[in-house]
Amino acid sequence: MNDLSGKHVVLGLSGGIACYKAAEFCRGLTKAGATVQVVMTESATRFITVATMQALSGRPVYTDQWDERQPNHMPHINLGREADAVVVAPASADFMARLAQGRADDLLSLLCLARPIERVPLLLAPAMNREMWAHPATQRNVAQLQADGAVVLGVGAGDQACGETGDGRMLEPEELLYEVQRHFQPKPLQGRHLLVSAGPTFEAIDPVRGLTNLSSGKMGFAIARAAHEAGAEVTLVAGPVGLPTPRGVRRIDVKSALEMQAAVQAAVPQADVFVSAAAVADWRPASAADQKIKKDGSGAVPTLAFVENPDILAGVAASERARNGALYCVGFAAESHDLLAHAQAKRERKGVPLLVGNIGPDTFGRDDNALLLVDAQGSTELPRADKLSLARQLVGEIARRL
Ligand code: C5P
Repeated sequence: MNDLSGKHVVLGLSGGIACYKAAEFCRGLTKAGATVQVVMTESATRFITVATMQALSGRPVYTDQWDERQPNHMPHINLGREADAVVVAPASADFMARLAQGRADDLLSLLCLARPIERVPLLLAPAMNREMWAHPATQRNVAQLQADGAVVLGVGAGDQACGETGDGRMLEPEELLYEVQRHFQPKPLQGRHLLVSAGPTFEAIDPVRGLTNLSSGKMGFAIARAAHEAGAEVTLVAGPVGLPTPRGVRRIDVKSALEMQAAVQAAVPQADVFVSAAAVADWRPASAADQKIKKDGSGAVPTLAFVENPDILAGVAASERARNGALYCVGFAAESHDLLAHAQAKRERKGVPLLVGNIGPDTFGRDDNALLLVDAQGSTELPRADKLSLARQLVGEIARRL
């Protein structure tokens, strides 16, 4: 997805083993459509070469404030002015200490200090040994940098290059890429809590068999990510799917419709928005066998009796919180034909203000989709696009209606 196209990022590297991750991160930025200008400190060049970063960014790398390539001889001014964001990854303990003091004794720190602070955000991805990270001096510098307007991204926990284990390693390249993408998204859901259900449910027949459907969960997961990018706190109740949890999202895994209902109901009191994107099974076997149902060789087939599952969305939409306007409910409809008519009817039946229709066979398992939004005012089409783009548009539409 080219969601960083048109963005120009100055990628700064200070010294640390994590420089090896900056190569992959740089590639991720350019693949997402950004142009990248790499600036390295002298220590960073000890960990990864200028040649590598130049090849990956496709631009000459800057390392020196006395660089003569710029006609006005001021790379620290020019490079910062052109940028939509300056991202320092890795940001070493020493580099952050220097920034916190407003020092400017090399090109990268000079550039950070000289950047137009209102227009060019500074994102820092710390990377250091756990003792260095936990040290009061580092934490004091982090607090100071935040107070000065920098965005200090989190650190990862786990094995460190020094052989120790703990907090302080740099986020992974895909986590950094997500943080940059998130940074550029508008924040219409800041301060809100969005609850989303996603994926199929699995209704057990016996310990090894069950009934499920073809929902991949991709749309619901994309909505969870888009809502987090938009500033919301997000709870994702997921049926059985193999998708990674979007960064920053609280995930609760469930299997059956009854488990999904319990998890959703438990989260409803904190939620401002509920998006019911899960493909909940309409029926479940009346009773699941304790042991595997065996074939006895006689040709006899088991008979399954069904009971109806609760309608999770309709139940939430009828709750006190939804009726008094504290919770905004959004339903989904997967249809095979007559999308508008079915979506309108389903909106009424479920008692929700907004219903999102899509054509089931055109969305299940795919990375793209097309949506039809139906509310009391009428309908809006969101034309075919990748699910993350659609989720971002849908989140914007929901935020407008809150
Ligand atoms: O009635 P239908 O299954 O087509 O409705 C789809 C919408 O209702 C979706 O938003 C889905 O998450 C929700 N639903 C539910 N509980 C059910 C069935 C559907 O919450 N048992």
